[in-house]
Amino acid sequence: MKFERVSKDLEKVISFIKADEISDADKQVITEETVEYFDKYVSPGWLKYRKSVSTKGATVEWRDHGSICEGLYGEEFIDCLGGFGIYTCGHRNPEIVETVKAQLDHQALHSQELLDPLRGYLAKAVSDITPGDLEKCFFTNGGAEAVEMALKLARIATGGKWYISTVGAFHGKSMGAISMGGKSTYRVPYTPMVQQVQHVEFGKAEDARKAIKNLVAVGETVAAMIVEPIQGEAGVIVPPAGYLAELRSICDEYGVALIFDEIQCGMGRTGTMFRCEAEGVVPDIMTFGKAFGGGVMPITGIICRPHMWTDELVNNPWLLGSPTFGGNPVCCSAAIATIKYMIDNDVPGQCAE
Ligand SMILES: Cc1ncc(COP(=O)(O)O)c(C=O)c1O
Repeated sequence: MKFERVSKDLEKVISFIKADEISDADKQVITEETVEYFDKYVSPGWLKYRKSVSTKGATVEWRDHGSICEGLYGEEFIDCLGGFGIYTCGHRNPEIVETVKAQLDHQALHSQELLDPLRGYLAKAVSDITPGDLEKCFFTNGGAEAVEMALKLARIATGGKWYISTVGAFHGKSMGAISMGGKSTYRVPYTPMVQQVQHVEFGKAEDARKAIKNLVAVGETVAAMIVEPIQGEAGVIVPPAGYLAELRSICDEYGVALIFDEIQCGMGRTGTMFRCEAEGVVPDIMTFGKAFGGGVMPITGIICRPHMWTDELVNNPWLLGSPTFGGNPVCCSAAIATIKYMIDNDVPGQCAE
């Protein structure tokens, strides 16, 4: 009986999704039910926080295109938030959507046993557009998950245990990623977290050197220094010129992996395809995400230099991770179309301008 009711409820929702036009009566139903269900089944907190609800009654988003989010009643909003940095190619970019639809028409996810070709094509393209000898890719579903993989890879590749991160940093909210986070408000409820992390001031390479030097002096080992080439969530903080290059030479000196988290500042957003190119520095591991899926599909990942991909990982490809959905065909198709679109339309150049 209960399941029958659920099925009927969902039939109605699916009819909304499929409808070309929604009647005014249904628009009202959708608006009221969205507020009610957010309140009861999601979290009342969002109703207070979202300005679209708290400042002028509820606006439910339904369509989007280009730089515009549209409400159910056709209200248009210029999207200045960009979905936290995912819409570098705009909302529902037609070329990306067309490719994704074509992929959906023949295969959505993958068998996990046969070889899924788009993973290989995308990995090659990512290697082609990233600086230096960055080569081996591992695809994930969200930014924090990519950061987890970067942290784990650094431990495997270097044998080191500690991480150096920066005050103000944001790397996501999973347990490992938030351990690297540099904002107390996000961390306090979850302590103790990954213990072997030292936070140093962002933009001061000398502080990173001292932290590593002192850890080594007392017999500890350091796996990685993780840093955003431009701190995003901290307030878009550009470090002094030469900072990244200095970190590079410190990490080389101590055999520490240098991880650049380009999830927010990468994919053209700061005027070069990846921010580290502007400083002429190649990390050992780089994360990417957000705009990587073209604002259409969620896909993130890491790329690393060949020496990071150790024999241990070659012999046991399950070791780093095996996310069920990571690098699935439909998400890869979006990223492939995104990279092509960004190159053909010089998106980095547009961002620089
Ligand atoms: C630099 C950086 N790293 C990681 C993340 C986490 O990404 P996600 O929210 O997809 O987990 C973010 C998100 O804002 C970010 O800006």
